[in-house]
Amino acid sequence: MNLAVIGAQWGDEGKGKIVDYLAEQAEVVVRFSGGANAGHTIVHKDRTYKLHLVPSGIIYPRTVAVLGAGMVIDPGALFGELQTLEEQGVSWEGRVLVSDRAHLVVPRYRELDVEQDRSRMQPIGTTGRGIGVAYSMKAARDGIRVVDLFDDERYALLRPEDREFLDPYRERIHPMVTDLAVYMYHARDRRVVLEGAQGALLDLDHGTYPFVSSGYSAAGGAALGAAIGPRAIDHVLGVFKAYTTRVGNGPFPSEFQPDRDGDLGDQIREIGQEYGVTTGRPRRCGYLDLVALRYACRVCSIDALALTHLDVYDEFDEIKACVGYDIGEETLDGFPASISALERAVPVTKRFSGWKTSLNGISRFEDLPAAAKEYIACIERFVETPVEIVSVGSQRESTILRSDQWTR
Ligand code: IMP
Repeated sequence: MNLAVIGAQWGDEGKGKIVDYLAEQAEVVVRFSGGANAGHTIVHKDRTYKLHLVPSGIIYPRTVAVLGAGMVIDPGALFGELQTLEEQGVSWEGRVLVSDRAHLVVPRYRELDVEQDRSRMQPIGTTGRGIGVAYSMKAARDGIRVVDLFDDERYALLRPEDREFLDPYRERIHPMVTDLAVYMYHARDRRVVLEGAQGALLDLDHGTYPFVSSGYSAAGGAALGAAIGPRAIDHVLGVFKAYTTRVGNGPFPSEFQPDRDGDLGDQIREIGQEYGVTTGRPRRCGYLDLVALRYACRVCSIDALALTHLDVYDEFDEIKACVGYDIGEETLDGFPASISALERAVPVTKRFSGWKTSLNGISRFEDLPAAAKEYIACIERFVETPVEIVSVGSQRESTILRSDQWTR
């Protein structure tokens, strides 16, 4: 049995917490895409772990954490992260595997990433981690794969400065390298989480191109990046926040506008601590965009949703969600591909009453205030997908499970 956990917005939906929650009952967590551009925060007991490359299941001592074939890995960042985990008391040796088909990020990619973005007419606002360069090198057939570290003939063809950087990692990474197709075949009857990075709207194909990341963050990428076929994915869980955020540039139809929405954006940013885990950048905030969420549910065949950060709205008298785009034409069923159409779109909003009480400590769906239940019911009707997990705080215990995702 496997569960693919993907972001259903523009990233930062709280996937780390949800994967951590599900990983307690999993034997394996495979991260299928992205690189050190991602930032997953996990609060476990009284400790906070910030992960970029290592799959979120690492916190459980018996879980195997696999860096999948769809990833681009900066070995310096990987070993730095593993060392921090060790300092935090997490022993990882023997439990972290790396696909031999994953690609590597070398320092010149990071420099090129920053330079390229600076020279764009419309910069994307990348994280500067060399991710886009690594995926372009991969598509151009000039990338460096993990397996190349152990193929002396291919290794000798690399640029001297890349070899100089990679040399110290050859031996260290060797015991972690695995043939993921074989590993996944043998793990087919085990509980496996396929962990996504970023979100469906940052996916290279289905996101707001060109303002996207360069890996596969939609559910289709889970099969490619974890070396299994699409029919082998058992269940897709989409994670979304009670509102919407985005870091970096690009269209964001439901973004709060100071002249229309006052200081809502600043309030949500402060209450939700909406600052990038990787870059520290303040995140742009907006209403929950149900048009975009419905699109994500469709392109990712999301079976169930996990709603996070619902408690951020605890103090609000009223809440609004975007249920349509006014772009001077009739109401759309889909999510426009055109960047200018998305930039022109004025959100059509629906109002909801706030619940004006703390959701802290609630662990059963029945105990949620009626107004919160109404907000959730409306989301489910609009996107035609059930909300089966509700998170009301960063701690593991602040999670309401409406249906067990492993036995569903
Ligand atoms: P890149 O992935 O560094 O190339 O950045 C491309 C775009 O994706 C930028 O707008 C980034 O801010 C955004 N992005 C990349 N990774 C994440 C993430 O984990 N969360 C949110 N946004 C991200």
